[in-house]
Amino acid sequence: MTTKLIAPSILAADFGNLQRDIEMVNKSEADWFHIDIMDGVFVPNISYGMPVLQAITKHAEKTIDVHLMIVDPDRYIKEFAKLGADNLTVHYEACTHLHRTLQAIKAEGMQAGVAINPHTSVDLLKDVIQDIDIVCIMSVNPGFGGQSFIENTYHKIQRLKELIVTHNASTLIEIDGGVTNENASQLIKAGADVLVAGSYVFKAEDQLETIKDLRQLANS
Ligand code: DX5
Ligand code: ZN
Repeated sequence: MTTKLIAPSILAADFGNLQRDIEMVNKSEADWFHIDIMDGVFVPNISYGMPVLQAITKHAEKTIDVHLMIVDPDRYIKEFAKLGADNLTVHYEACTHLHRTLQAIKAEGMQAGVAINPHTSVDLLKDVIQDIDIVCIMSVNPGFGGQSFIENTYHKIQRLKELIVTHNASTLIEIDGGVTNENASQLIKAGADVLVAGSYVFKAEDQLETIKDLRQLANS
């Protein structure tokens, strides 16, 4: 079995102590930094943009996993590559020409991800699955941290896993929203490869220990 990965979501960090929180993740057993970019149009919230990402990448020593919750993401692909994104995930619902967008992300040397909202069927990815490095299944409606996990996600993971196997693809399945120690094992059992966790990690008293436990659960 390949190693299952943990990606703390920086949206839940303390922005007044951003460098401290980034260094905590560097020191931890986490695998990726998950960075949520929201434009106030695709989702009803605005998070942070390029200058903050630049500050993060200056200190971060692990894979930078950028999750774009923005309309027309093609406009910014080159810029995110320049800023140091390793993975660039766009929303299925925000892309008219998804295949073209995926090729443009790869042309910049990044891993190409597609996120799907809770109402979007994984079956819609059938014809592009071999072009997708990461599918991010949203297990909450995107826009905010700290929401509760949507149970139908397990079913979606299983269907997506079947699709990946059928098409002989090597796509990773990432789960984003409401991940805790209570659902981590079941998510992995259903077929998940990467667990994003925001509030569960950053609201914890011992963040390093929380990441360690989550990673252990995911890999046991
Ligand atoms: C939601 C974001 C998530 C969020 C996860 O729109 O995409 O990455 O930060 O936060 P938690 O783990 O608190 O649900
Ligand atoms: Zn996210």
